[in-house]
Amino acid sequence: MKLAVALACLVVQPAPAQAQIKSGTEFLSPEMRRQQADETRNPAFFWVEQGRELFSRKPSPDGQACASCHAEPQQSLRGAATHYPQVDAATGKLLNLEGRIEQCRVERQGQPAFGYESSELLAMTAYLGSLSRGLPVDVKTDGAAKPYYEAGKAFFERRQGQLNLSCQQCHDGLVGQKLRGDTVSHGAGTGYPAYRLEWNDVGSLHRRLRACSLGVRATQFDYGSPEYLALELYLAGRARGLPVETPGMRR
Ligand code: HEC
Ligand code: HEC
Repeated sequence: MKLAVALACLVVQPAPAQAQIKSGTEFLSPEMRRQQADETRNPAFFWVEQGRELFSRKPSPDGQACASCHAEPQQSLRGAATHYPQVDAATGKLLNLEGRIEQCRVERQGQPAFGYESSELLAMTAYLGSLSRGLPVDVKTDGAAKPYYEAGKAFFERRQGQLNLSCQQCHDGLVGQKLRGDTVSHGAGTGYPAYRLEWNDVGSLHRRLRACSLGVRATQFDYGSPEYLALELYLAGRARGLPVETPGMRR
């Protein structure tokens, strides 16, 4: 319970103005930052490569590859990742990039969904994310997206778990401080899917959110759950204007 004691005297800070939110990269050691930037040393680029291959592979001899409809993805899908999560016009549901990929996979390719956190979906998401590397996050948080954004914000500010901590208490209130060997960031989440040394693997943003929920001994929601989707939109709204850094590297 040392953590709880250390955090007991914490003062909740108001959400910082947009311009103050920093990317997770700024809180990495210089060595890991260099490694993240170097395609030959960042292990997550292996997933990007797998995603690139999968994108042009036909699921069956007479089937259509993603690339059959999305020719020149470096141009046609450059920037796509910056707009997710977004509300799907047809269903009114909030979709993140993973959800949009699965929608095309099922409805347009006629294939079974890859499944959240499968190596295929991680590879495809990392690949499409990498096509937006360096472009600013640009999600909509008004109009049809507003209720989702507000739900995400409420979740972010609500105290939860046995440690009775909100996301905000750490990711606004403790930014820059050390916690179990990590430096607490704003939780911008702009580098996911990311390779985490602790996982020895690439994982989605929702996997990272599950780790934070577990950290305060709160309910871990499912991958792709409405709770984490709304949270993802809120985080992306906070991170608006920051560059996409997928695929990131984290401790
Ligand atoms: C039969 C044609 C077809 C196939 C096959 C297909 N797509 Fe699509 N995809 C589309 C169309 C059409 C849209 C535009 C939908 C819209 O804007 O409402 C789209 C939209 C998308 C988007 C959203 C782009 C954006 O700017 O928001 C992504 C991402 C995507 N597809 C990825 C994939 C992936 C990955 C695959 C393979 C698993 C795939 N698609 C297979 C036709 C296809
Ligand atoms: C006890 C403090 C604590 C709480 C509460 C907490 N986190 Fe975290 N979180 C961390 C630490 C430590 C890390 C790893 C270092 C970093 O990137 O901030 C992290 C990482 C993250 C990241 C990854 C950032 C990146 O760029 O890699 C996101 C996103 C995130 N948290 C979101 C949340 C959300 C949403 C909640 C509420 C459900 C939450 N966290 C609750 C401590 C916390």
